[in-house]
Amino acid sequence: MSIIADQTVPAGPDARGRFGDYGGRYVPEVLIPALDELAAAWTELRDEAEHRFRRAMAERVWESMKATDSRECRNCHEFQHMDTTKQERVSARRHERGFKEGQTCIDCHKGIAHHLPQGYEEEQEAKEAVEGAQAVSRRSRASG
Ligand code: HEC
Ligand code: HEC
Repeated sequence: MSIIADQTVPAGPDARGRFGDYGGRYVPEVLIPALDELAAAWTELRDEAEHRFRRAMAERVWESMKATDSRECRNCHEFQHMDTTKQERVSARRHERGFKEGQTCIDCHKGIAHHLPQGYEEEQEAKEAVEGAQAVSRRSRASG
C-alpha cells in the first residue's frame, strides 16, 4: 500500500488560504499587494499558455485526421454506408456536396469530441462573413 494513496489532498485552499493545517501567507503586510499582483499575473499567464497550447494541439489533430481521411470517424461511420436519404435535409445536402468536393469529416465536424479552442468559432465566422461579402461583390461586378 502506498503512503501517497492514503493521503487526502484538498482540491484548493480554504477561505483563510490554508490547505488543511498548512498554508496561508505569513508575510509582512507591505508585501501583500505585490504578492496579489504576482498571483494575478501567474493566473493570467497560465490561462494564456493553456489557450495557445490547446489551439496548437487541436490544429495538429485536425491535420492528422485530414491526412487519414478522418479514419477515427470512419471506424464507426463509413460514408459508403451513409444513407443520405435518411438524414436531415441539411446533412444530406452538405454531405453529398462535401464528399464530391473531396472534403472529409473533420473539415466540417470540428469540436465534436472536444470543445473548440477559445476564439476559433468567432474566427471562422468572421472569415465566412468576409468571404460571403467578397462573393456578393464579385457577383454584382459580374452582373453590373
Ligand atoms: C466509437 C464510434 C464512433 C466514432 C469513432 C465516431 N462516432 Fe459519431 N456517432 C456514433 C454514434 C453511436 C452516434 C449516435 C447515433 C445516434 O444516436 O443516432 C454518433 C453520432 C454522430 C453525429 C450525430 C450527432 C447528432 O446529434 O445528430 C455526428 C455529427 C457524428 N457522430 C459525427 C462524428 C464525427 C465527425 C466523428 C469523427 C470525429 C465521429 N462521429 C466519430 C459513433 C461514433
Ligand atoms: C461538407 C461538410 C461536411 C462533411 C465533409 C461531413 N459532414 Fe456530417 N454534417 C454536416 C452538416 C452541416 C450536418 C448537419 C448539421 C450538424 O449536425 O452539424 C452534418 C450532419 C451529420 C450527421 C447527422 C446526420 C443526420 O442528419 O442524422 C452525421 C452522423 C454526420 N454528419 C457524420 C459525418 C461523418 C462521419 C463524416 C465523414 C465521413 C461527415 N459527417 C462529413 C457537414 C459535413
